Amino acid sequence: MKIVYFSVTGQTRRFIKKLGAEFSAYEIDPVDPFFELNEPFVLIIPTYEDEITYPVIEFLKFKNNAAFFKGIVGTGNRNFAELFIFTAKNISKKFNVPLIYSFEFNGTPKDVQNFKEAVNKLES
Ligand SMILES: Cc1cc2nc3c(=O)[nH]c(=O)nc-3n(C[C@H](O)[C@H](O)[C@H](O)COP(=O)(O)O)c2cc1C
Repeated sequence: MKIVYFSVTGQTRRFIKKLGAEFSAYEIDPVDPFFELNEPFVLIIPTYEDEITYPVIEFLKFKNNAAFFKGIVGTGNRNFAELFIFTAKNISKKFNVPLIYSFEFNGTPKDVQNFKEAVNKLES
């Protein structure tokens, strides 16, 4: 399973570094989100207004990418209360893929462990 992620302030990027060499990860470039993956992937996405996360939608709609989109993980800040991880929730519905995990900021060691378990479960 590949990992695709988006990061504006660097928290998600920091989480990706904590995963180590087990996963290949691709960061969506907001300037040029149009790349074709052709392999199953999980998307990790932070929460912002739709205008900011729009490159992720462009990536998902590009060529055959949506066909390989297997699961989504939302990251955010629980202080946003009912708006916690709304971006991931919306994309999960829009593309009909399961929301497999959520965490805050760059994640704790427990989040790293839980994330890996959630991805393994998706693969089995
Ligand atoms: C302007 C702004 C708006 C945000 N809005 C939300 C929100 O509505 N819900 C939420 O859960 N987190 C929200 N967050 C928190 C970020 O999604 C969170 O800090 C995330 O870890 C950032 O990831 P990144 O550094 O990889 O971009 C917001 C952060 C900023 C700076």
